[in-house]
Amino acid sequence: MSDERMERLRERIGRIGYGGDYNPEQWPEDVWTDDARLMRAAGVSMVSVGIFGWAVVEPKPRAFDFTVFDKVLDVLADADVSACLATMTASPPPWLAARHPETLPTRADGTRLWPGGRQHYCPSSPIYRDHAVRLVEEVANRYGDHPSLALWHIGNEYGCHVAACYCDVSAASFRDWLRARYGDVETLNDAWSTAFWSQHYASFDEVQPPRTAPTFPNPAQQLDYARFSSDELLDCFRAEKEVLRRRTPDVPVTTNFVPFFEPPGKSLDLFAWAPQLDVVSYDSYPNPHDPEAAVRAALGYDTMRGLRDGEPWLLLEQAPSAVNWRPVNGPKPPGVMSLWSWQAVAHGADAVMFFQWRQSRGGAEKFHSAMVPHGGEDTRVFREVRELGQSLAAAPALVGSIPRRADVAIVLDWSNWWAFELDSHPCSPERLIDVLHAHYAPLYDAGVACDIVPPTADLSAYRLVVVPNLYLVDQAAAANIAAYVEGGGTLLMSCFSGIVDGSDRIHLGGYPAPFRQLLGLRVEEFWPLAEGDSVRLVGDLTGDAATWSEDIRLEGADVVASFATGELAGGPAVTQHEFGRGTAYYVGTRPDPSTMRRLLDRARLTAEVDPVLPELPEQVYARVRETPGGVAYTILLNHGPTEVSVPLPSPMRDALIDGPPSDAVRLAPRGVAVLVAD
Ligand code: GAL
Repeated sequence: MSDERMERLRERIGRIGYGGDYNPEQWPEDVWTDDARLMRAAGVSMVSVGIFGWAVVEPKPRAFDFTVFDKVLDVLADADVSACLATMTASPPPWLAARHPETLPTRADGTRLWPGGRQHYCPSSPIYRDHAVRLVEEVANRYGDHPSLALWHIGNEYGCHVAACYCDVSAASFRDWLRARYGDVETLNDAWSTAFWSQHYASFDEVQPPRTAPTFPNPAQQLDYARFSSDELLDCFRAEKEVLRRRTPDVPVTTNFVPFFEPPGKSLDLFAWAPQLDVVSYDSYPNPHDPEAAVRAALGYDTMRGLRDGEPWLLLEQAPSAVNWRPVNGPKPPGVMSLWSWQAVAHGADAVMFFQWRQSRGGAEKFHSAMVPHGGEDTRVFREVRELGQSLAAAPALVGSIPRRADVAIVLDWSNWWAFELDSHPCSPERLIDVLHAHYAPLYDAGVACDIVPPTADLSAYRLVVVPNLYLVDQAAAANIAAYVEGGGTLLMSCFSGIVDGSDRIHLGGYPAPFRQLLGLRVEEFWPLAEGDSVRLVGDLTGDAATWSEDIRLEGADVVASFATGELAGGPAVTQHEFGRGTAYYVGTRPDPSTMRRLLDRARLTAEVDPVLPELPEQVYARVRETPGGVAYTILLNHGPTEVSVPLPSPMRDALIDGPPSDAVRLAPRGVAVLVAD
């Protein structure tokens, strides 16, 4: 059914979706007419509308007034622009908090978060949920048959500002969640190791959220709270979705996931959320001042594609130029917006949308760039917006094409992410996203495509599986990984993996107990390094490493590199173990980027993994998307500052410029080509 809904959406839009968040309620009506004209000029096909519309359509409780959006949706329909219509529940109007202060969210330290910003609701609040669902019913009844309606946009960036609430209402809901998970309180006591520090509970009624405590709150309690908070927000999403399904069963639903690299990026278990959506949507805000911005963006995009097993996804928000919420907000230099948009398409995006259409005159985001800047249409940004709209429209066959499955999978798991970043660890400042990036970047730089998968995925089709810091793992996932290697796969696993079970309890039997046999070793002691310290690696692999080391005892593995300096000098640092028909590499430290690159090159050699295209010039990247009819589109992206010539394995033509086929293509600085065999 989801497939049919999406097929209809693709047919309706007919090309890569193009547009942005449209907030006409901030402007007088005559501006809307101008918006429609400019949208047509820019090739806009879809806009997200009404995201912060609640106070407009329900200015007083139960007094609905849809005049503004009635007119706006008609303007869009006349301009042939589809609506990704919001359920309008992302930010409650001030009257809700005035009448029901108990709907406001509370931080772990008891601070209440007041209205005046946005997203000021407690996800567990039945009052918020009731009002939200009633609003969605009104919106769905009003616009369910509107000709501009193409896609439902439920909420907005769930968990972006309030990933978890710690109020009494949330506490009661947490207890219900725990009752459902554990059945009886002794099972919870066991899972949470409450024999420690006199924490034994006599009843579920005594359990609280992990509020600010004199010292480290119980880690298993913190982990369950992260799971609970993700589930609570998902319940909010589902309550709205149920209304929409009843009223408009044919219209697909989505919600936009928050940027992966900013702190809230880890707050939702996206593998649990994604099956509830018809299509995954993502908001991506790479920092133009960050030299690694494109790599980080690519990792986010590959993750979005992995959430529904390789399906295309929608880039629902990005900045046309600068954002306003970093300490220093660099604009995107000329050409970067187009290049980064095409990068998203190369990694599987079926829509390229922005925040926002017209730059706000007032409010907290007036310095955030927009497709139509304060300066109007005679601006660099609008000219680039128009050009991008034209170029995206030139390759309509890409819509619905599927990015080619990669040979390399990188394992990601949200419970592990939450558990890995808990306090009271051997080395606390580490962030899983940085570890992921350290494993992903060398592959990206080598021109190798990667899929992001959960640890329980079918790994058999992959030549190489990379497992960064799978600190938390259950027996089933561990067995899945071991079976993959036994069957002939190549694995690269990094340190501090296989340490705890799903309740953050140590797997006894010598670290990393679930992987000892697979890796052919035992870790006797963790040996984090002082800040600023590094260790030298020697052997088949030489280089430097920092942050972490381990006292490794071999049980069948061969040494690839040893520590040459520090307390563990002479001991193994990187190992290789033949297991069944496959090979398992283990990395007991954090090699620097160039050492990681050489290590991954070696693992790739073992696994016979090639780049997407051979002989690509520096900073040129390629990804392939295939249509259901078997036509392959190779998208080439020049992230470099100079023009380059790229040799092609066979003659191809560039779908963006209607030229003759050729066995080489010239790419301008920040240039893009969409190549198809003739
Ligand atoms: C997103 C949000 C948008 C806008 C944008 C600015 O987090 O969904 O409404 O605030 O950031 O970058």
